[in-house]
Amino acid sequence: MRISVIGCGYLGAVHAACMAKLGHEVVGIDVDERKISELSAARAPFYEPGLEDLLRDVQETGRLSFTTDMSAAHGSDVHFICVGTPQKKGENAADLTYVDAATVGLLPHLSPGDIVVGKSTVPVGTASRLAELVQLKEPEAHLVWNPEFLREGHAVSDTLQPDRLVYGVENGSEDHPSVAILDEVYAGSISSGTPRLVTDHPTAELVKTAANSFLATKISFINAMAELCEAAGADVTRLADAIGMDDRIGRKFLNAGIGFGGGCLPKDIRAFMARAGELGADQALTFLREVDAINMRRRSRVVELSRELCGGSLLGKRISVLGAAFKPESDDVRDSPALSIAAQLQLQGAVVTVSDPKAIDNAARRFPELHYEADVDRAVQRADAILLLTEWQQYRELDPYALSTLVTNQRILDGRNVLDAAKWRAAGWTYRGLGRP
Ligand code: UGA
Repeated sequence: MRISVIGCGYLGAVHAACMAKLGHEVVGIDVDERKISELSAARAPFYEPGLEDLLRDVQETGRLSFTTDMSAAHGSDVHFICVGTPQKKGENAADLTYVDAATVGLLPHLSPGDIVVGKSTVPVGTASRLAELVQLKEPEAHLVWNPEFLREGHAVSDTLQPDRLVYGVENGSEDHPSVAILDEVYAGSISSGTPRLVTDHPTAELVKTAANSFLATKISFINAMAELCEAAGADVTRLADAIGMDDRIGRKFLNAGIGFGGGCLPKDIRAFMARAGELGADQALTFLREVDAINMRRRSRVVELSRELCGGSLLGKRISVLGAAFKPESDDVRDSPALSIAAQLQLQGAVVTVSDPKAIDNAARRFPELHYEADVDRAVQRADAILLLTEWQQYRELDPYALSTLVTNQRILDGRNVLDAAKWRAAGWTYRGLGRP
């Protein structure tokens, strides 16, 4: 099929490349010239494992191109909207400027029979509103909401082999003409057994926000348990292992630590609360305020623990923060708990050096006042304390004996509970985890 993908960020660039991999003819469109020239040269404008290989692979086939010119969408049968929906400045609600602009910009290039497919995470009600715009301009075109569930760091495999496909169509019916078209787009996944659900517009939009809210709630639940474990002298990692053995609960997303961040979960739960308020259903989501509060409390807790670890004062203490990305295998620092903790420590008088295998450039743009050092050995030189805040594999594998020769004080705070506490203590370190004795 001929496909256009509007918005070539973390979602759209991966989606465009994967659609071409599945055999479609794809044009990726974005207003950012830098992104387009990088992608045109088969270079990923951000770090995502496997993306660059995939871009090279599909560009050789001639099925994938990129442009800043929206008119290139003309002639495609399917138009995916993959632009961002960040949090509005000073408010909880989502900023729909980019989704609206992408849809309106696309309208003049629609032809009868085309489908516009929204993948961005939007407040419920957006799809029906945009569907009206599409129908006004081109009565024989349709708008479908097809939320995306990919995780950064696993984006390529999540797109090629998703857990499920959700199509939100106007009448919520399997007979809607868009269903057969999307089935053709995703023929590869469907034939390999990916379940596919057809719903109405609002249900499809809510599936996405509900899923992210559930994940955020799971993380905050275990972090609340971590607070209790700290008070009671228990170990939250063993607790998570034990409750996770119940199939109904499951062990995934029960890793206690410095909490969730990134460009999705934090802003999605806030936008969801804001939208519920507009719909007069705010009570239904007041628990998400608590989920958010527990999450933000983790960051302050780490600052306090660091102070304790440094003997009661942060002033002039050299602190090495390992990890700036909001999670491993990503260079994304949007709402990164690691970076926000690093910035807080610096504000409170510590001398902070941040290290990360991939995210230093992005981090330095956001917090230029912090000191950055890519090399771990240099980053921990003469440290009074090390904070492991993003669990990159190379940090999990650090050798406590080798590291002890570089630091001034052998103190480590394991913000993701991924180190072997006994091993570090045996090597002479003062080890602190979160929610662990
Ligand atoms: C999240 C969802 O997992 C995806 O399904 C969704 O498609 C995506 O948002 C989106 O809306 O686009 P992502 O933001 O890439 O994906 O990251 P996650 O893997 O969900 O991690 C989010 C945060 O939670 C990270 O900061 C991670 O460190 C933290 N986390 C995760 C924990 O603190 N504990 C856990 O047990 C799991």
